[in-house]
Amino acid sequence: MASFSVLLILACTILASDAAAAVRVGLTRIHADPEVTASEFVRGALRRDMHRHARFAREQLAPSSAAAAGLTVGAPTQKDLRNGGEYIMTLSIGTPPLSYRAIADTGSDLIWTQCAPCGDTVTDTDNQCFKQSGCLYNPSSSTTFGVLPCNSPLSMCAAMAGPSPPPGCACMYNQTYGTGWTAGVQSVETFTFGSSSTPPAVRVPNIAFGCSNASSNDWNGSAGLVGLGRGSMSLVSQLGAGAFSYCLTPFQDANSTSTLLLGPSAAAALKGTGPVRSTPFVAGPSKAPMSTYYYLNLTGISVGETALAIPPDAFSLRADGTGGLIIDSGTTITTLVDSAYQQVRAAVRSLLVTRLPLAHGPDHSTGLDLCFALKASTPPPAMPSMTLHFEGGADMVLPVENYMILGSGVWCLAMRNQTVGAMSMVGNYQQQNIHVLYDVRKETLSFAPAVCSSL
Ligand SMILES: *[C@@H]1O[C@H](CO)[C@@H](O)[C@H](O)[C@H]1NC(C)=O
Ligand SMILES: *[C@@H]1O[C@H](CO)[C@@H](O)[C@H](O)[C@H]1NC(C)=O
Ligand SMILES: *[C@@H]1O[C@H](CO)[C@@H](O)[C@H](O)[C@H]1NC(C)=O
Ligand SMILES: *[C@@H]1O[C@H](CO)[C@@H](O)[C@H](O)[C@H]1NC(C)=O
Ligand SMILES: *[C@@H]1O[C@H](CO)[C@@H](O)[C@H](O)[C@H]1NC(C)=O
Ligand SMILES: *[C@@H]1O[C@H](CO)[C@@H](O)[C@H](O)[C@H]1NC(C)=O
Repeated sequence: MASFSVLLILACTILASDAAAAVRVGLTRIHADPEVTASEFVRGALRRDMHRHARFAREQLAPSSAAAAGLTVGAPTQKDLRNGGEYIMTLSIGTPPLSYRAIADTGSDLIWTQCAPCGDTVTDTDNQCFKQSGCLYNPSSSTTFGVLPCNSPLSMCAAMAGPSPPPGCACMYNQTYGTGWTAGVQSVETFTFGSSSTPPAVRVPNIAFGCSNASSNDWNGSAGLVGLGRGSMSLVSQLGAGAFSYCLTPFQDANSTSTLLLGPSAAAALKGTGPVRSTPFVAGPSKAPMSTYYYLNLTGISVGETALAIPPDAFSLRADGTGGLIIDSGTTITTLVDSAYQQVRAAVRSLLVTRLPLAHGPDHSTGLDLCFALKASTPPPAMPSMTLHFEGGADMVLPVENYMILGSGVWCLAMRNQTVGAMSMVGNYQQQNIHVLYDVRKETLSFAPAVCSSL
């Protein structure tokens, strides 16, 4: 059985300061579930776009007493697809602490979990809660739960609420993601990182979070999400962590636990089996949700020694906030604007097309665009690495395992294309076995190749 518990916590009672200690949390794949085989997982994961980046997080409507601002937007949701490629962290909420599993997402800010009572208890058909693993958190059983005042700086409604909101004003949100949504009331709680079995646990009071009572059915395998984005609501910002890092174990490896480190010592702990490279974050638009994202300056892509002819402005951020490229832990498959994608696709195709038959049609059912048929028991041929060249000579080398994905009988380029002008994303599949450090204080991303299961 896969272990979902937190690995180790360093002693420190107060994190929200410069003297913050590191928090170390284990990350598991949603598919680290003994009943799901790796190839079922690949099929399931690829059928949907696991885009957890926030689509919209802006306040509308002024809050009123009791019922307040609706943060309402439109976005398609995809249903009835199992087993995403997200990484899950375990943390605890409330007093007494109740542990829950949450998707770790650098592409959004809100921390949220489902709260009881969830959905409409009168008619089951109106129940808008998804079935979660583990117990449902019930605010009325916790002594540290509170509803966040609408004018709190950590409330998404603050801008609309003004300095003196009506008494009892509650900020209601509906946070939409690239895939899925969740809605509820903004609240505060004491969170615990660590568990009673691995003392000492770190307890942090007054963390603003979303107490969701309605969500789309896109969150199987979790009980919510932890936003690690740049905004004030994210766990990184609320802890005053300054830096965080993760090292993601390979996709097909359900047995090992990945590591997430939060706090200044994350920077000190960055090590790998190769050189550490650093690149500055690019200043993003100040508008939500783009203000949440970690933008990077991708200046080129090579396959083997060949630099691809990618238009120089392919990944440029436009004045209107569109375009650009972000790094995201909550998205699985990298998406590139079509002008770049077609170059990558052509390079990979030309290296493989003489060696393997192309797999066409719905039978390969991965939703990916370039797939090759593999004979059973024949391992895929050797391929050169792909390099993402980031500003400042920061080359991120992707071994073939990080850009090709093995399904049942097919081997596919694990990337998708995006309309020109849309945002490109470096997903978590491409970040396997790379130790990645987000130094939000220094505004740099650093990374090094690593064996993440032994970190
Ligand atoms: C939240 O927004 C989504 C997307 O627009 C919508 O489908 C859903 O019904 C909304 N949920 C609530 C409770 O308002
Ligand atoms: C979630 O899992 C349940 C059973 O485990 C399944 O019936 C349901 O269809 C799944 N939903 C999604 C969106 O995957
Ligand atoms: C969620 O809670 C809010 C505030 O209490 C309430 O107005 C809303 O009807 C609830 N939604 C559901 C689906 O129960
Ligand atoms: C993972 O663990 C299971 C059960 O302990 C074992 O059967 C399987 O071979 C392991 N897989 C890997 C990749 O080590
Ligand atoms: C990206 O890097 C290139 C090469 O160093 C530089 O010319 C360009 O100005 C950078 N773009 C941004 C948005 O920083
Ligand atoms: C993505 O690529 C496929 C073929 O490689 C093409 O048919 C499709 O139009 C492209 N989509 C976009 C949005 O450019």
